[in-house]
Amino acid sequence: MATGLFDGIPPRLDTGRGTDRFLWLLARGAAAVERFGRRGRRPPVVPVDRDLRVVVEQVRAEAEGVVSLRLAAADGGRLPAWQPGAHLDVVLPSGRIRQYSLSGDPADRCYRIAVRLIPGGSGSGEIHEEVGEGTPLTLRGPRNAFPFVTADRYLFIAGGIGITPILPMVRTAAARGADWRLIYTGRSLESMPFLEELDDDRVWVRPDTEYGIPASGAELLEHVSGDVPVYCCGPTPMITGVRIDAENRQVHWERFAPPPVVGGEPFRVELARTGRVLDVPADRSALDVVREVLPQTAYSCRQGFCGTCKVRVLSGEVDHRDQVLTDDERGDHMTLCVSRAQDRLVIDL
Ligand code: FES
Repeated sequence: MATGLFDGIPPRLDTGRGTDRFLWLLARGAAAVERFGRRGRRPPVVPVDRDLRVVVEQVRAEAEGVVSLRLAAADGGRLPAWQPGAHLDVVLPSGRIRQYSLSGDPADRCYRIAVRLIPGGSGSGEIHEEVGEGTPLTLRGPRNAFPFVTADRYLFIAGGIGITPILPMVRTAAARGADWRLIYTGRSLESMPFLEELDDDRVWVRPDTEYGIPASGAELLEHVSGDVPVYCCGPTPMITGVRIDAENRQVHWERFAPPPVVGGEPFRVELARTGRVLDVPADRSALDVVREVLPQTAYSCRQGFCGTCKVRVLSGEVDHRDQVLTDDERGDHMTLCVSRAQDRLVIDL
């Protein structure tokens, strides 16, 4: 019976730490500070408001329904540095803003993002159908809502397009000489991007077509000892399963879809400019309800960390659930995608 830290997952190949002892101690200290700061709710995402003008240098089909875009600075210069886990706001030619994780190499002068075509998705549809090589785009960021903590062991879990923020983490972990494993799940091999970049014995590729059903949280975690930090990105059911079965493990996660509303009460939103009053049910977001009558209402992450859906609140008490507004902003603004109320809000729309 195997007894290692990563029982059942392919054996560790690299036993060196890959960094000298002084740097390693410094990194451990920084990691402890980061871990302390991450107890409880996530730290606020630091806004980066600069606009970056870029040009699409390359479009590549990476898997069924997935393309990658290589983005170069319009002036030919080097784009700002970023850390694994970072994402960009991409302002599309239509003015829509969507967020994508950086999936390339942080040492590269260009950025790489990958976009899965979502049926009915206006942002992904625009990218797949209207954005090509030479298209100018504006970016905001990079920002990081999924910080990568320095450690000497990691378990990475990615589901489908959730591989995008995980890839640079894996590369960084490998470059630092950390002991790591990646479990990469997906509907089928054909739907899973970047497989050719993950040709390593430490990667377990787990398509549903070969295993019959999506992996449970317990299955994804069962091979790894409880003190290994877990980084997880993918569909909501996968992340929920991992978080439920993680018990006391340290799990860092990012999802690509809005989370289900938890602990929501129904409330009302009045649109001040028309006087229209909308009912927000307990299981829906104000953003979804408002967009039914004002479809142009801007949004991006739908998870409370980008600030795109921020609106002014003229009256009423807000139950703030975002990670982006400052205390001052919370005095008279809210994020429609996650924040709620007990009673009635009047908003400046
Ligand atoms: S859409 Fe990002 S905070 Fe609401």
